[in-house]
Amino acid sequence: MKTDSTPVFLITGASGFVGSRICRHLAPRFTVVGAYRSHLFCLPGCSSIALDITDRRQVHEAIHAVRPTHIIHGAAMSAPDTCENKPQEAWDINCTGTQNMLEAASAIGSRFVFISTDLVFDGRLGNYTEADPVNPINQYARTKVEAEKLCLNQKENSLIVRITLQYGLSTGSGASFCDQLIDKLSLGQEISLFTDQIRTPTYVLDTACGLEHAALHGSPGDIFHLAGPETISRYGFAVKLASIFNLPVSLLKPCSMDDAATIARRPRDASLLITKFTESFQFTPRNIQQGLAAMYQEYNETI
Ligand SMILES: NC(=O)c1ccc[n+]([C@@H]2O[C@H](COP(=O)([O-])OP(=O)(O)OC[C@H]3O[C@@H](n4cnc5c(N)ncnc54)[C@H](OP(=O)(O)O)[C@@H]3O)[C@@H](O)[C@H]2O)c1
Repeated sequence: MKTDSTPVFLITGASGFVGSRICRHLAPRFTVVGAYRSHLFCLPGCSSIALDITDRRQVHEAIHAVRPTHIIHGAAMSAPDTCENKPQEAWDINCTGTQNMLEAASAIGSRFVFISTDLVFDGRLGNYTEADPVNPINQYARTKVEAEKLCLNQKENSLIVRITLQYGLSTGSGASFCDQLIDKLSLGQEISLFTDQIRTPTYVLDTACGLEHAALHGSPGDIFHLAGPETISRYGFAVKLASIFNLPVSLLKPCSMDDAATIARRPRDASLLITKFTESFQFTPRNIQQGLAAMYQEYNETI
């Protein structure tokens, strides 16, 4: 039952892939307001507010109106290639937007969780801990590193959670990586996937759960890695997905990052270690087999 002392969460990027899942996860137990920019959304138990985070005044007005006890800030220009093509807009949204949110959160004493990324690392080593130095190799990652610095400048009420490649069915405005894989394989289309781009994929429902732990119990000023417990290539991941979804694995074509010209450079091995998160919150995301099985169940329930 929600009472006057129930925490009030403001989730930015609520119309997106991750934000939508965070709202759904929190709404049954907390007061949740989801902020969107251009894609109005409707989620059970969650109210919505239009907000452009690059507009400082709008941000202050929204935060004073909602008066959140906790903010999970996921709004971003999140596609690395788009950031590379629109570097100034990426900076405005990911850095200035975050600064606007931080200032307004500080003014009313909200706990602020910034969603960052595994791509802050250059990917030469892999298995990164929170103590490892960042070295961004594309504009998206540079904006995220800068936004992390802004959060660290305001340690009293903010913390950083770096998340990784998310998998799951989209309940937001766009199709997820998995939605696209399932659609293409169902249509009999071949897909080329990197065997040498290594990540620690995380089931998006577990990311939502982990972010709740960090928001409620994480220490301000801290950085956490929240990731799945297994490292795998994009190709290896797609093979597992196709097997569980009974889709033709033969349509998946292995290829190397060296053979593909992408607009933004990508780290080769951006895998994250999650020991700190697991020990701090006694929470570990599901492994890939378990996460995909849960996703398959949800898929069958929704078709
Ligand atoms: N998905 C992943 O695999 C992954 C991995 C690592 C880190 N992350 C991080 O996780 C967060 C969420 O990612 P995602 O995949 O859910 O992204 P997404 O689906 O692209 O959603 C981005 C969200 O940001 C909002 N937004 C963009 N510009 C805005 C602005 N100026 N003002 C207010 N809202 C704005 C969008 O709102 P509208 O659509 O309504 O305009 C949308 O809700 C991001 O910070 C991303 O960097 C994601």
